[in-house]
Amino acid sequence: MNEKKYIFDICIIGGLGHVGLPFGIYLAEKKLKVCCYDNNKELLKKVKKGEMPYIEHNSDKLLNKNIKNKNLSFSSDPNSISVSSTVIIAIGTPVDEYLNPKISDFLENIKALKPFFRESQLVIVRSSVFPKTCQKILKILAENINLDLAYCPERIVQGSAFSELEKLPQIVAGFSDNAKKRAGKLFSLVTRKIIYTSIGEAELMKLFSNSWRYIQFAVANQFYMIANDYEEDFDKIREIMMQDYDRASGIPSAGFAAGPCLLKDTMQLSSFYNNNFLLGQAAMNVNEGLPNYIINDLKKKNNLINKNIGILGMSFKANIDDIRGSLSYKIKKSLIFEGASVFCSDPYVKDKGFIGIEELIKKCSIIIIGAPHKVYKKLKIKNKVIVDIWKIL
Ligand SMILES: NC(=O)c1ccc[n+]([C@@H]2O[C@H](COP(=O)([O-])OP(=O)(O)OC[C@H]3O[C@@H](n4cnc5c(N)ncnc54)[C@H](O)[C@@H]3O)[C@@H](O)[C@H]2O)c1
Repeated sequence: MNEKKYIFDICIIGGLGHVGLPFGIYLAEKKLKVCCYDNNKELLKKVKKGEMPYIEHNSDKLLNKNIKNKNLSFSSDPNSISVSSTVIIAIGTPVDEYLNPKISDFLENIKALKPFFRESQLVIVRSSVFPKTCQKILKILAENINLDLAYCPERIVQGSAFSELEKLPQIVAGFSDNAKKRAGKLFSLVTRKIIYTSIGEAELMKLFSNSWRYIQFAVANQFYMIANDYEEDFDKIREIMMQDYDRASGIPSAGFAAGPCLLKDTMQLSSFYNNNFLLGQAAMNVNEGLPNYIINDLKKKNNLINKNIGILGMSFKANIDDIRGSLSYKIKKSLIFEGASVFCSDPYVKDKGFIGIEELIKKCSIIIIGAPHKVYKKLKIKNKVIVDIWKIL
């Protein structure tokens, strides 16, 4: 694949991120020469030594193997973009504190790197973008050079890249037939099913997918609140509803819908639709309101002032160490405001302020499950008030 004038087949901008790094390792495993370019120098030091900066199942061995065989390298030098035949953009696309997409920051990053792009490169946008952003990227990058720009959104579940990349169909959109063809060829090394779409379809599809999941979680969480207020068990109701009844088979269990993508992409879509995405906004109210619902419910039967309250699980979802957007922190903040002493524990998240599971159970009279880590399944907690919306215990 490596064309002569290039040192690398692939350069991933944002190559140490949760999307960029696993994808880089995966492509190196496919025998491509991959350079992960990232401006986070701290992370760079760590990863160069073969240490994964976060949990990505089955990644450690592959990272070390591909560093050793020199298929995978890391750099904070943007010149690595110039010497790669394909450039993948996988930097973050966050929303600001008012939940508006920070599109100009994202585009400024690309503008700053523009001098490093070269004639006839294939450029693949992998980040989840606000609709019409790819058009703006094309305008920036292809102002005075010819390159092929494709949009191929990432749809994996965080933490499971290596099993999901090859299982999921890949959406491939391009501004030219050549862009589609070249991106399709690259992704045929990854997955058997490639779906070709227009850029506009692909941009919306990614935001629709995440908004859809976010709304589904909100429905379950709203049902949970209704059932709980009516002193019925939502989980039991849900199981019965789903039994041999396909039309209800997709109801998720209740739980904190958090993390770096679902809320953010729902808000991107809302902003794109002039804040008329009412279902998305309602979903945000429900999902982001769940921590306060739980605390208000607790307060009905318990005095929280000066109580020791423990939160088990601080990551945004089960069995990973990522705390971005985790609602466990929202619960912690509200409980402190209510006058409680809060203790936190998580087997994956490294934080000097956290305590061990056993110590937390011993110390606290109220225990809230913040993330349903598998290791909690075997816990036997007696004589405590337990809030376990996930029904993990
Ligand atoms: N996390 C997921 O599971 C997931 C899934 C699908 C899509 N996405 C989307 O993928 C994109 C990236 O998400 P992520 O979770 O990997 O984010 P991340 O924050 O984990 O990674 C982004 C990386 O980009 C680097 N970076 C930022 N600006 C840079 C620059 N100018 N030059 C070089 N490096 C730079 C950062 O240092 C960081 O390592 C987002 O658009 C996100 O919505 C994420």
